[in-house]
Amino acid sequence: MTNQISQEELQEQIRYVSHEIRNHLSICDMYSQIIRKNLEKSGIKNDSTENAIDCIQKSVQIIGANLLELKSLNTTNLKILDFKGTLESSIELAKAYVIDKDIEFEVFIKNTSLIQADENKFPACIVNIIKNAIEAIDVKGKIEILAEIKNEIGIIKIINNGKPIPKEKAEQIFTQGYTTKKTGCGLGLAICKKHLNEQNADIKLSKSTKAQTIFEITIPIYQG
Ligand SMILES: Nc1ncnc2c1ncn2[C@@H]1O[C@H](COP(=O)(O)OP(=O)(O)OP(=O)(O)O)[C@@H](O)[C@H]1O
Ligand SMILES: [Mg+2]
Repeated sequence: MTNQISQEELQEQIRYVSHEIRNHLSICDMYSQIIRKNLEKSGIKNDSTENAIDCIQKSVQIIGANLLELKSLNTTNLKILDFKGTLESSIELAKAYVIDKDIEFEVFIKNTSLIQADENKFPACIVNIIKNAIEAIDVKGKIEILAEIKNEIGIIKIINNGKPIPKEKAEQIFTQGYTTKKTGCGLGLAICKKHLNEQNADIKLSKSTKAQTIFEITIPIYQG
């Protein structure tokens, strides 16, 4: 049996993988800049540390360039993970995107269980949704993350009070290429939907008003 992948599918996959890697490279880049600033502020001069930061930033740049030539394909690798722990560490990663904004985070994870998910792709989806929530807030706002296990399903609600999604656009947001941002690709939600579906999980926009935009992710618990 041949399992041939079309040129179009291959290109789509490459774009998706590149997008996710780029998101996380920018976290490395931002934190190395923060370390540099903190050293300056504290008046610490350390050639070796400065060199290390230069190397990290250079590597980030080289990986970015190499992404353009990415040829390999990705697969989903399901593992048994703790729902609460996975969510908490994903939230920490996503907070790196709060720059020059006053955003209050409120996180409430009611209970936990085991889930079966990809240890890279599941957190990456959470990061994408929180990144969007941060980007939807202009200067000041609030992001709430409420999670619980109910009826053997893990439910994660990511809520922000930024600019809402117009009703007529609600269907389009999960289609790749739809963006309202100057520097956006319109890939984040399309990737999340596809990757979550591969993990037997799902995502939907539950509500979007001036007061609240709510994205809801659901994933069945591991039945072992
Ligand atoms: N939490 C949110 N609040 C308001 N609008 C949102 C939110 N999440 C997504 N959107 C809208 O949906 C569009 C598509 O989101 P998506 O994450 O797919 O792409 P993007 O953020 O524009 O670009 P990127 O490819 O960098 O993720 C956004 O441009 C924005 O208009
Ligand atoms: Mg996005």
